[in-house]
Amino acid sequence: MPASNCLEHLWSGMLSHEGTQRRKEGMVALFRTVVGVGMVSGLLVVLLWSEQQVGLKTPAHVHFHAHARGIPDGSPSAQAEDPEAHFQMSERLSVAQVSPVITHVTRRPNATTSNRRASSSLPPTAGHQTPPKPTSHVAASAVTSSSSSSSSSSPSSVNDSQKLVFTIDQTIPSSNSAMPKIYVITPTYRRPEQVAELTRLSQTLMLVPNLHWLVVEDAVAPTRRVLAFLDSCSVPHTYLLGTASRRYKGANKPRGVSNRNAGLKWLKVHAKEGVIYFADDDNTYDYRIFQEIRTTKQVSMFPVGLVTQLGVSSPVVSDGKLIGFYDGWIAGRKFPVDMAGFAVNVQFYLQRNAPLMPYNVGFEEDGFLKALKIKPEDIEPLADNCTKILVWHTRTVKTLPALKMPDTDKVTKTNLNHLKSQMVFQMPYGLS
Ligand code: UGA
Ligand code: MN
Repeated sequence: MPASNCLEHLWSGMLSHEGTQRRKEGMVALFRTVVGVGMVSGLLVVLLWSEQQVGLKTPAHVHFHAHARGIPDGSPSAQAEDPEAHFQMSERLSVAQVSPVITHVTRRPNATTSNRRASSSLPPTAGHQTPPKPTSHVAASAVTSSSSSSSSSSPSSVNDSQKLVFTIDQTIPSSNSAMPKIYVITPTYRRPEQVAELTRLSQTLMLVPNLHWLVVEDAVAPTRRVLAFLDSCSVPHTYLLGTASRRYKGANKPRGVSNRNAGLKWLKVHAKEGVIYFADDDNTYDYRIFQEIRTTKQVSMFPVGLVTQLGVSSPVVSDGKLIGFYDGWIAGRKFPVDMAGFAVNVQFYLQRNAPLMPYNVGFEEDGFLKALKIKPEDIEPLADNCTKILVWHTRTVKTLPALKMPDTDKVTKTNLNHLKSQMVFQMPYGLS
């Protein structure tokens, strides 16, 4: 018997009085309405909840755009109070521009260069670096930003929940081939923080289309952990060894030079155009710096935060022209800049006979830039005439290598055995 009929039966037994018949019918109708409304609103709650779950599964669209405007995720009040919320981001980058087909190039000893699809080694949850389907962009762009933006997005009336999502509405470029490629040369070396640094950097680079990452390790042989990291790294990359000779090891010796030079030699063979940028593995990069340097014609420069006691190293710009340098350590350098503070056009680099970086501690940048024979007045100031800091020379506190894990069953027969392979232990250099 249906539940309502059952109730009707029950009621009719209880309400024997003839005059209460109409009241009875009224109550049954009311009961049906209440049940109906309850079911519909329950359904709505379930639908809204599942939509939120889908939203959370697309961090590229929700979290990325929120962060891009300095807005903590999902907090409308924080958005209203945060002065950064009015900051206008570069209109040229959106997740929509992340290279749709991504090729890895990993070079290893005893292995020929291999090309792989980015998605092949990614777990299904690895998210937005999987070549995005056009439909997902359409869905993201459909919710238009309600804040003012320098992009072509047209503000539209949106309800309160939609205000949490900021999307730059723009045409998806059919191909990135027109965009100069950015070659990022990153020196790295074995230490406990190495994979953590590379992870952090890679996840910034994932936001940049048409970029090739040269991960150059200063080691006698590739570090297993780094190769494993690159196996699941969706940024197009090449791994190279750039071993520093023993005489360049130790205190007051240049760091990362052998690596950068190995990267430059690779570029000389493999690149004809594009832009070169030296990105140490421990610095902090706003993804917009890569959009800035992409237009470099010869040599571009821009401020770097947290350098020396002055807190910043920057070209001094007046009327759009570079007229000097602000840096805590001038030391007679013609170009007193940080390694992270300039980019070089590949064609220009090749025309200038592809110089390498000198092993001259403190003068690596200056020596390299002087070898390019660029006049200071020809340098292209970026980041809105060097008014914005989009890269910081950060340092990570050094962690001691871990104590060795015992070879007991508790390690070898549990998850610890897997973690073991991802750690740096106290043992002689190159043996882990
Ligand atoms: C500063 C400059 O920013 C570097 O560009 C410059 O190479 C270095 O000083 C120097 O002249 O010695 P800093 O932050 O002090 O950099 O140095 P690190 O971050 O320790 O090293 C710079 C890069 O070289 C990093 O990417 C690091 O991973 C790599 N490195 C460091 C090596 O490849 N091998 C090493 O033995 C040490
Ligand atoms: Mn550093």
